[in-house]
Parts: sequence; C-alpha cells; structure tokens
Amino acid sequence: METYQLAQESQLNDLLHVKIHQYKQQNDGECASYIPELKKADPSHLSISLLLPDGTHYTAGDHTVSFTIQSISKVLSFITACMHHGIESVLNWVDVEPTGDSFNSILRFELTNQKKPYNPMINAGALTVASLLPGTNDNEKLMNVTNLLYNLLGKEVCINEKVFMSEWETAYRNRALVNLLAENDLLAGGVDETLLTYIKLCSIETSVHDLAKIGLILSMDGYDPIEQKQLIPVKIARLSKVLMFTCGMYNSSGKFAASVGIPAKSGVSGGILASIPPSTRNLNVLSQGCGIGVYGPAIDRYGNSVMGVRILQDLVEQFHLNIF
Ligand code: DON
Repeated sequence: METYQLAQESQLNDLLHVKIHQYKQQNDGECASYIPELKKADPSHLSISLLLPDGTHYTAGDHTVSFTIQSISKVLSFITACMHHGIESVLNWVDVEPTGDSFNSILRFELTNQKKPYNPMINAGALTVASLLPGTNDNEKLMNVTNLLYNLLGKEVCINEKVFMSEWETAYRNRALVNLLAENDLLAGGVDETLLTYIKLCSIETSVHDLAKIGLILSMDGYDPIEQKQLIPVKIARLSKVLMFTCGMYNSSGKFAASVGIPAKSGVSGGILASIPPSTRNLNVLSQGCGIGVYGPAIDRYGNSVMGVRILQDLVEQFHLNIF
C-alpha cells in the first residue's frame, strides 16, 4: 500500500470519504443482540471523526448518528476512580493483566483463586471499578463519571433510557459476575448499586466526535490542547492508554496490537475510541497526534466493530501511525 503523502490537509477529508464508502460496501459483522435494543441499530452505518491538537476536525460517513458508549465507559470510570483514590489504591482492587477471555467471562472465578479481577477493561474489572467510584449511590457514582466527561467534552451527556432498560432486564451474565465478585470480596459497594452504576455508564449516549475529543486528550497525556488545560493527570492518562493497548479490544487485543498497533477501546454498540500519539517518524498531517472516533455497529465475535477495525488498520498503515 502506498503511503499517502498529504500536500494539503483538505485532502484528508476526501480520503476519509473514500474510505468510508469503500468499507461500507463490505458489510461484514452483525449488531449485538444480547442487549435487544442494540439489535435495532442499522448495520450499514459507518462513520469516522478525527481531531487534531490545533482543533482541526475531519469527519466522514454517518457521523450524526449517536450511539451508547458501552465498554468505552470502562476507560472513563477507571480514570475517575484513579483521580479520586490514586492509581495505587485502585490497583489494589484490580490488576493490569490481559486475560485472553471474552469480555464477560466468568471462567477465572472457578479456575483460579482470583485475588482481584484481571484488568479494568473486562466486565469483572469494570464492575469492581464501578463499585469504587466516589458517591454513595449509583446516581452519584454515575455523576462523577459524567462530570469528567463534561470537562473533557465541554457539554452534558445523557443516558439512553431504552438501552439502559434493555440491558438491565437482560443482564443475566453481569448479574452472575457481580455476585461472584461480591462473594469473593471484590466489590467496594453493594451488588445492585454496582450493577446499576455499570449499566448506566454503558448507556451514556455518545458520538464519533466525542470519542475523537477523548482520544485526542489521551494522546496528549491528559492535556486538552484546544482548551489548554490539563484535565487528566499524566500518569493516569498514560496508564489508561497502556490498558487500552493491552486489553482494550478484549480477546483480540493481541491481534489488534499486532495488526493495527494503537491504543484503542471498543464497545459492543460499535464505537471505537482510538488515541494516536505524536510521532517524529513521519511528516504528515497526523504526526502531531490525534484522537479518532469510529462507529460501525456490525461487530465481530469479540465484540469489536468489524468495519471500524478495518478502517483504523487502513489509516494506520497509510499514515504510519502505529506506536512501534
Ligand atoms: O457488559 C456489557 O454487556 C455491555 N454493556 C458492555 C460490553 C461491551 O461493550 C463489550 N464490548 N465490546
């Protein structure tokens, strides 16, 4: 594949439109169905948003379509918990080890004498982190994460009530998981409160533009270059990117690291948050680093957007964006 040397930034917009059109034709994957409301998404939707540190914004595809953040919220609740308790205290509750298991696996509880969940990006770890969030009930815990989002995005976010109810009514596996965590003293709060917090967090409504902004701030180690404010402490932002890189795409994190090679976090509704660090290896418009949000609700068996992964892989190859 030829490296696309951009003479002008305007060419990037055209390129994104071409790529969205190209990948839309492929139409692989299926919308998640275990949360009935997610099955109603249009599997042909595909969009991308890319934000540069100087505020230049590129977008293509169905970018006005909003969706629920799902597992991408795991990054935000981890950051919130770390900002409140400190990294060390949070890591007393949850490890930073990839599992190779599916995101909602309960396997490890029976197979090993688990002292703590493997990492905050799988459901077990995210439930423990949800229990650690500051607040005396699920709404206060949720609010502490939405406050962080307010700072990052400069706007209020809301919950998609239909998706929330749909998941709450069908959360058989997460109910099992949260009970196993409680049985093993791996929750800092109550079972119902933790599950409510977790599912409300997953039901936050978002867009590819929001994900691009979050990705940009993470790529700058927590600094918002547009508002010129440090919003997340550097160490917490860096650790979050490490977790995204090693565990963010679940049991295809290794394959994603090998074939794409950037910190990213997916959600079953089809969103992917990606964070591209600045690089001096190449001189193109993206070498200053950027945030990318993609959305394509048709997912693979790991829970990752099929077209979202392909378009990221393509962009990374063309612009040499991989971190190694
Ligand atoms: O725990 C669940 O089932 C969802 N609400 C979130 C899972 C998810 O997004 C996994 N993603 N790729």
